[in-house]
Amino acid sequence: MRMLSHLCFYILVNPPLLFLFSTGVPVEAQPLSTDSRWVVDESGHRVKLACVNWPSHLEVAVAEGLSKKPVDVISKGIVDMGFNCVRLTWPLFLFTDDTLASTSVRQSFMNLGLIGSISGFQKNNPSIIDLTLIRAYQAVVASLSKNNVMIVLDNHTSKPGWCCSNLDGNGFFGDKYFNPDMWIEGLTKVATIFNGTKNVVAMSLRNELRGPKQNVNDWYRYMQRGAQAVHTANPNVLTILSGLKFDRDLSFLYKKPLSLGFTNKTVFELHWYGFSDGNSWETGNPNQFCGRIVNNIKRNACFLIDQGYPLFLSEFGVDMRGTNVNDNRFLNCFLGWAAELDVEWALWALTGSYYLRDGVVGFDETYGVYSWDWNEVRNISLLQKISALQYPFRGPGYTEAAEHKILFHPMTGLCVKRMSVPEPLVLGPCTKAEAWSYTSHKTITLAGKYLCLQADDMQQPAKLGLLCGDASSKWEAISDSKMHLSTKLKDGSTVCLDIDSNNTIVTNSCKCLNNKDHNCEPGSQWFKIIDSTRRTTDKNFFLTMNLMVRIIVQNLFSFIQLWHI
Ligand SMILES: *[C@@H]1O[C@H](CO)[C@@H](O)[C@H](O)[C@H]1NC(C)=O
Ligand SMILES: *[C@@H]1O[C@H](CO)[C@@H](O)[C@H](O)[C@H]1NC(C)=O
Ligand SMILES: *[C@@H]1O[C@H](CO)[C@@H](O)[C@H](O)[C@H]1NC(C)=O
Ligand SMILES: *[C@@H]1O[C@H](CO)[C@@H](O)[C@H](O)[C@H]1NC(C)=O
Ligand SMILES: *[C@@H]1O[C@H](CO)[C@@H](O)[C@H](O)[C@H]1NC(C)=O
Repeated sequence: MRMLSHLCFYILVNPPLLFLFSTGVPVEAQPLSTDSRWVVDESGHRVKLACVNWPSHLEVAVAEGLSKKPVDVISKGIVDMGFNCVRLTWPLFLFTDDTLASTSVRQSFMNLGLIGSISGFQKNNPSIIDLTLIRAYQAVVASLSKNNVMIVLDNHTSKPGWCCSNLDGNGFFGDKYFNPDMWIEGLTKVATIFNGTKNVVAMSLRNELRGPKQNVNDWYRYMQRGAQAVHTANPNVLTILSGLKFDRDLSFLYKKPLSLGFTNKTVFELHWYGFSDGNSWETGNPNQFCGRIVNNIKRNACFLIDQGYPLFLSEFGVDMRGTNVNDNRFLNCFLGWAAELDVEWALWALTGSYYLRDGVVGFDETYGVYSWDWNEVRNISLLQKISALQYPFRGPGYTEAAEHKILFHPMTGLCVKRMSVPEPLVLGPCTKAEAWSYTSHKTITLAGKYLCLQADDMQQPAKLGLLCGDASSKWEAISDSKMHLSTKLKDGSTVCLDIDSNNTIVTNSCKCLNNKDHNCEPGSQWFKIIDSTRRTTDKNFFLTMNLMVRIIVQNLFSFIQLWHI
């Protein structure tokens, strides 16, 4: 583990882009379709959408960052960071307003008085600066395609600008800037332009429906029409449908399913931020709040997975400075949830800074993966944590190993693994996770069920033992978050699985179980037992035998006693 932290340190102080995140799975066999809750390629293998949002819907109507870096450098950076997909936002008027569409990039910057961006753009992307806005958008798509990145086109707003509020006139069908017929027209146009662009794998119909006009009847009426229009113009893409209330509510679909003239092409999207619930993460007990909000999400959206639709968490994100308690607590809960369900997702956002946002030139995006100058990763440790979700845990075609459980630790994005003998159990990359089973007797066992996870003593490493019938081998998911794994010591006291400062797995007294406690941080004690068919590291048979023999010798006395009874 010390080596790993040295590696991180090395990367932190060495800005040039890392090659650490090679876990994203590039995809060759488009078009994509759905098979029950999974997105699959032409051969029926699961494709996990591990995307990052690349905004291009703001006033300039050009993908952000092109005044800082050549488009190909940004596309390659996306791949190097382990993402296999971009959710590329666009404003409707780009495709419905001929004046806007035929404006050149240079002109668009000039119209907004953004002279400073022009020289950077000229230097980094001379071949794009004199294209029209539509051609510039296509150039970004082409660069992503060349680098084998999949693209989800997202109709973010009608009128270019920062999104979204209830009263911005872009919220729902019939709002000032949201004429349903123009919407259909725009969707059709975009779908047609990109019909045949292999890497454009999906189109979301509309970002964050919201505002006073929103209602369920119009949702069905227009979303079904929109989906149908896209499918007719471009039968290859997945159509992605968002819910009401800023894309947080799809609960109405529970009773009344969607009715479309095509199948295996529909995905639902959902947005979830820490600030979606104000500052409740910070002011409440994190266990209690995590439990409550996960239950809400189950009601509002997760049932769609059981109904056989993929769920695309198309926006989530955190303040990358790591100083926002609300966001940090949200992220730990979110990662546990997202890993367990193994959903598709898109991080908000790629942006280091915006040309212009909310009237501010060079607006710094603290939720951005890139630093302000798009030169380095803003927070490598946060990105590493999120990267735990880039590779699928399971799904059609992922049969690298038999079904097993892994113990995921959201706070670090790592999984429990065994060191070679002599063991402690430690955290390591989930690609090297130990394969466990979680039995009906609540034991967490390994190696043909002979070795099981046991608590030894307070503040001591958890160990692997052979006598799996006693109380210290029974682990229950307790607390409202259901992420504390708890057991009893020989003296009857309750302990929870935890990590120490070296990422060794230990047992400590359980934190934050009192729901009145709002100032505690349970993150280090949060573990999630999740289903996986990922390859696990080949454990040398002799090492396992060696460990078993060692345990038997250590415990010879108790074994002899046991056999005599
Ligand atoms: C379409 O979906 C159904 C059920 O979700 C599945 O059985 C079928 O295999 C899918 N077809 C394709 C071509 O993936
Ligand atoms: C995009 O969304 C806006 C609403 O903000 C809508 O007015 C417009 O018609 C949509 N366009 C397309 C092509 O989806
Ligand atoms: C879209 O492309 C497919 C080929 O991938 C073609 O068969 C179809 O006619 C195109 N549809 C339209 C509306 O252009
Ligand atoms: C990155 O985030 C972590 C919290 O996850 C924080 O402790 C650290 O200071 C942040 N690093 C930088 C460079 O912002
Ligand atoms: C972590 O490892 C270092 C070096 O091996 C050791 O000195 C220290 O005691 C360990 N910390 C804990 C909490 O075990």
